Amino acid sequence: MKIKDFIMEEWLMRNRGVVRHNLGESGVADYRLSELIDMCGIDPRELLDIKLEDESTYGSPLLRGEIARTYEGIPPEKILVTTGTSEGLFILFNLLLEPGDEVIVQFPEFQSLYELPLSLGCDVKFLRLNADNDYIFDDADLKALITDKTRLIIINNPHNPSGSLLPDDTVAEIIDIAKRRGIPLIFDEHYRFLPIDPNTRIKSACEIDDYAICTGSIVKCFGLMGLRMGWLVANENLLERCRSFKDYTTHTLSPISDYLSRRALMSRETILGRNLAFIRENHRLLCEFVERQSRRLSFVPPKAGVVSFVHYRAELSSDELASRLIEAENVFVLPGSSFELEGCFRLGYGIPTEQFKDALKRMSRFFEALGS
Ligand SMILES: Cc1ncc(COP(=O)(O)O)c(C=O)c1O
Repeated sequence: MKIKDFIMEEWLMRNRGVVRHNLGESGVADYRLSELIDMCGIDPRELLDIKLEDESTYGSPLLRGEIARTYEGIPPEKILVTTGTSEGLFILFNLLLEPGDEVIVQFPEFQSLYELPLSLGCDVKFLRLNADNDYIFDDADLKALITDKTRLIIINNPHNPSGSLLPDDTVAEIIDIAKRRGIPLIFDEHYRFLPIDPNTRIKSACEIDDYAICTGSIVKCFGLMGLRMGWLVANENLLERCRSFKDYTTHTLSPISDYLSRRALMSRETILGRNLAFIRENHRLLCEFVERQSRRLSFVPPKAGVVSFVHYRAELSSDELASRLIEAENVFVLPGSSFELEGCFRLGYGIPTEQFKDALKRMSRFFEALGS
């Protein structure tokens, strides 16, 4: 298997823990263990009692049960715990794809969603998203790409990097299109817990129709990246094959992560309530900032998650722009080159509001100095 470098990782590794304001990340700023145990009401002695043993490859029954409770109508038996969503995706692609298969995926996109199928010898067809279509495609766009060689459709919803969110009826139509043709359909739902509109609950595609295979995670939405806990939801036959494949990868999640993830899920209202309060405020500040900078910047306000995709007007490559912003103002945004695009950058707004305000102030100064 030959695979290209993961472009964004180079930028993220170089700047993590180094820059003053890291807006390059795609998750909520991570909590310390002390903050997590506080939010969850965990007695630290409970942690000392965790047995450092192997769990079932499916994940512990208690954790699977807690994950199932985040869905309507999905039993724990349909859930396989994985180490990050990445492992779930890796297993699914390996099981579902053969060289020469056609795969449909959005673009721009989180790189592993198209790079892994390419590395398996597949032919990737892109559903092009842009600001003109609000980073949303419709069923006609999808139908136009389907051929008799299509073996998988991968949809990332809510979408990274734009934060767009497909309406439920579009999700239902996509499922219907795939189901009628017997094409497996994966929904990567990494950001399902972070709707910007307080009146929205983001439905999972598998709640709409369990034909959809879904991957999920708490790490970015909860601010717990280091727990590396993710999962996939599939019918029992596919789930069993994924479980068997996983015996060859990580086999089990660390019991420490299993325990803390379960407790975090049990306290999800507290953790998500806290996160959504500052994310929604940051989102408002971000919209105002882009509006004020409208001669130089534009974007489609995200509907979910903690990332936005911002276009700029300046004669600079996105790498140059990101480097100069770090140098001049100690603020890191992820250059569009990480998504194989130019004239844009991904801006994360998952950091505490006071820091975010300072980051925006610095960015204003930077763009003003660039001129119009
Ligand atoms: C859309 C999407 N899918 C998958 C992943 C990988 O997730 P994990 O870190 O849980 O492996 C990410 C991480 O940023 C992502 O944004």
